[in-house]
Amino acid sequence: MEVAAVRTDNGVMNTLSRPRPVAAGTRPPAGRRVLVGVTGGIAAYKAAELVRLLRGAGHDVQVVMTEAATRFVTPLTLQALSGKPVRTGLWDEAAEAAMGHIELARWAEQVVVAPASADFLARLAGGRADDLLATLCLATTAPIVLAPAMNHRMWLNPATQANVALLSGRGLRFVGPADGEQACGEVGPGRLAEPADILAALRDPSGADGGLLSGRHVLLTAGPTREAVDPVRFISNRSSGKMGFALAAALTAAGARVTLVSGPVCLATPPGVERHDVESADEMYRKVHALIADVDIYIGAAAVADYRPTQCADRKIKKTSDCLDITLTRAPDILSSVAALARRPFVVGFAAETNDVERNARDKLERKKLDMIAANDVSEGRAFDRDDNALIVLWADGRRQLSQQRKCELADELVAVIAERYLLSAGAQPALTVLA
Ligand code: PMT
Repeated sequence: MEVAAVRTDNGVMNTLSRPRPVAAGTRPPAGRRVLVGVTGGIAAYKAAELVRLLRGAGHDVQVVMTEAATRFVTPLTLQALSGKPVRTGLWDEAAEAAMGHIELARWAEQVVVAPASADFLARLAGGRADDLLATLCLATTAPIVLAPAMNHRMWLNPATQANVALLSGRGLRFVGPADGEQACGEVGPGRLAEPADILAALRDPSGADGGLLSGRHVLLTAGPTREAVDPVRFISNRSSGKMGFALAAALTAAGARVTLVSGPVCLATPPGVERHDVESADEMYRKVHALIADVDIYIGAAAVADYRPTQCADRKIKKTSDCLDITLTRAPDILSSVAALARRPFVVGFAAETNDVERNARDKLERKKLDMIAANDVSEGRAFDRDDNALIVLWADGRRQLSQQRKCELADELVAVIAERYLLSAGAQPALTVLA
């Protein structure tokens, strides 16, 4: 079965799990070695459908179940669908002799855990290796996609949300949970995402299976800059880099080759992303211009200093007077400089505003000659160093509002809008993309 994604007017990806013809010009799906983890929860029965879809899409599937998962669905069912004996424990001598667990972790080109229970997320966040599946997730270098499913109160519990934030920050991707009626009779977020949507989230980072930005090179900036006052002090801002890193992961998932220039942050590099670390606005400017040559899309998500100390003292400044004047000089505007290049990429800026958000952002869009700008309200502790955000995306003759949500999901939506506008500007059609 082929699963096709359609970009709709509101930029949301709809996945249709019915047979469709492959759109002209798209490449056939590449079969990969996919390790499917199944943990304990009523939604475990849907893993059977996921395995069936993966096999149908040409992937080589190995199922690993936790002990709790075997209480909801039998290994025999998943063995029949995957065509391979299901692995359930670390201490299975015969299975370990055939393929040891580290070998299995190396074998996987993609890991997907569906359903991922609250307990499993907690164990993963804690770096536990107390069963086969957790050990494999710890040992693998393959990208990991988690499809959580649990009671909505468990999902919304701050402990679970903290684990989700931690795992997202480490570059693991989430699909779902969906909102709706649950097996327990309550209503809320916690339902397992539809197997077809999980399949759609497993696009090949190399773009071999035809993501929307397959074959495009995206350069983006993230995080704050630090402007030195003296050898031990600097002027900076509250950016954590979370928004930019989430974008880097979403762009990779859309098939783009992603180069990330980052200010000082405490975040892991998303799998497949080429990362360059810098500190000051000057360094970021130089690095961006050194890398810009073959870039198709530039995104400025970094909170770059507008001003820097005119001089950095050679030695630590001493407390000699009650008052200290520091003279500031304008820092280079990286975004404007990229937009002014003779052979310019498609340029997307961000606008961090505390008031008149849309008016100020549209002014920046025009003044800096951008193709698009993503505006966020940063008043009253919003956006900076948070796990969620909301954006108003503007371009010359249009706008789109992206609602408050986790930055990784917001990034997926923003990438969909960017891809759509970019492809239109490049004369291509953002039509059907065959995902698997
Ligand atoms: O990092 P997080 O904690 O996740 O927070 C996310 C964020 C709030 C930092 C992010 O969503 C965001 O808004 N980034 C841009 C912040 C910013 O610098 O906005 P600005 O309105 O001051 O700048 C406008 C644009 O010009 C931005 O694209 C910025 O990267 C760019 N710029 C600014 C100054 C400068 N010297 N050079 C630039 O390129």
